[in-house]
Amino acid sequence: MTPTTTPIIELRGLSKQFNPPNGVIAVKDVNFSIMQGEIFSLLGPNGAGKTTTIGMISGLLTPTAGDVIVGGHSITREPMAVRKLIGVVPQELALYPTLSARQNLAFFGKMYGLGGRELKRRVSEVLDFAELTDRADDPIEQYSGGMKRRVNIGIGLLHRPQILFLDEPTVAIDPQSRRNILDAVKALNAEGITVLYTTHYMEEAQELSHRVGIIDHGQIIALGTQDELTRTVGEQDTLALKVPNATPELVDTLGKLPGVSACVSVDGEDGELHVLADEGRRALPDAIRLINEAGLSLQAVEVREPTLEAVFLHLTGRGLRD
Ligand SMILES: Nc1ncnc2c1ncn2[C@@H]1O[C@H](COP(=O)(O)OP(=O)(O)O)[C@@H](O)[C@H]1O
Ligand SMILES: [Mg+2]
Repeated sequence: MTPTTTPIIELRGLSKQFNPPNGVIAVKDVNFSIMQGEIFSLLGPNGAGKTTTIGMISGLLTPTAGDVIVGGHSITREPMAVRKLIGVVPQELALYPTLSARQNLAFFGKMYGLGGRELKRRVSEVLDFAELTDRADDPIEQYSGGMKRRVNIGIGLLHRPQILFLDEPTVAIDPQSRRNILDAVKALNAEGITVLYTTHYMEEAQELSHRVGIIDHGQIIALGTQDELTRTVGEQDTLALKVPNATPELVDTLGKLPGVSACVSVDGEDGELHVLADEGRRALPDAIRLINEAGLSLQAVEVREPTLEAVFLHLTGRGLRD
């Protein structure tokens, strides 16, 4: 749906240090708002602070400083009011392996205070929505990773939350389940649900989000629509090179070519390297020479519009999966 301009989640100076005073500062003074009806993605590499941020917004972790206002309620002062509004799909799955999906959903539904016919109806609805109805009575231990993820999402939806948090829901699952989850997020948003989605896959952030916040070392380093963010890369080109079996040494040397600000190996696409260059075509002859010298072959070249990966590379000099 088209997001409104009404903030439904406001992070105010949100910070988290584990084991103070000397422990890791996982989230540092984060301030931003998510609008009602928006799909907002937090994009950042492993260890950036995504799970810690979601943990605080959903009331599972106590902030060291700052607060989050959800639907007008402070998470630190009115956690119960916030919990009614939100559904949380955590990164770690906690399902009972010997129980069926239907039984797991019924169990978690009772924890949310649902019961009787209403519970039965909601369980059937979310099973349908997750496209699991035909396997609903098989034990969870017979499910694929992707199917378990979908049960987890179903749990987050049982009490009809207005806001859904999904923490890296597509890590290590099959392509079909990934597609199902991305489509489910869009379908829920079309019904008016506000979504906070975390990922380190820039393709997912690009496909889903109205706005993206890029997080690194616990801080928001860029925030805006994709157009706004990619404009910050300015005139630089992304040169996509297909080099099967590219070595880290090659990636490193390509990144140091004149006129090149960075090079990164992109996961998911076989042997694809992205080179961020002032002028892609000028860097190409040097790149080809280096690839040949390394005894490797260049199978395809494309000059791309800047992506969110390029934005991250531009801001940090690293790839999202380094
Ligand atoms: N319970 C914890 N105790 C100590 N450090 C933690 C804990 N949870 C996370 N961290 C640290 O906080 C940082 C952010 O972690 P996390 O929020 O899990 O990142 P992400 O979800 O983006 O991968 C990392 O350095 C991580 O090691
Ligand atoms: Mg995480």
